[in-house]
Amino acid sequence: MTADLARKAFEKNTDQRQALEYICNELKENLDHYDWVGFYFHHRTEAKLILKAFAGEPTEHTEIPFGKGICGQVAESDENFRVDDVNAQENYIACSLFTKSELVVPIFINGKNIGQIDIDSHQKDAFSRDDEALLKDINAVVAENIKLETLNV
Ligand code: SME
Repeated sequence: MTADLARKAFEKNTDQRQALEYICNELKENLDHYDWVGFYFHHRTEAKLILKAFAGEPTEHTEIPFGKGICGQVAESDENFRVDDVNAQENYIACSLFTKSELVVPIFINGKNIGQIDIDSHQKDAFSRDDEALLKDINAVVAENIKLETLNV
């Protein structure tokens, strides 16, 4: 898989949310260790994340305050967060009891953290540097194409 799938997503879909959903679905369908894929964006005024697109089981955590869980910590740290075993994390929000490991990679526009991609896996130790590199490249394409006003976060 390469970031080309993200370019294709924005070529095929004029609707921003549908383009993000396309990326989520492609990643989940093509990579066995990706069991849930979602994009959260920073709310425009409040310190919270809003889920805008996902593939996998629906979650009740469609809004996450900054600082809470793996996602909320990435909103503040601006760093990738790879969790090999979610049960060993204290500040963690469980979306599915099947999830064993997780990877969150922030999205930057002009150096500003504006959101993130979140991947959950049913396998422990599922993610490597290759996943981090792929998601960083995908996020760069998302950053180039996304219009936050249209996305309405
Ligand atoms: N596990 C995340 C919450 C989002 S769900 O995985 C979809 C966290 O701890 O922030």
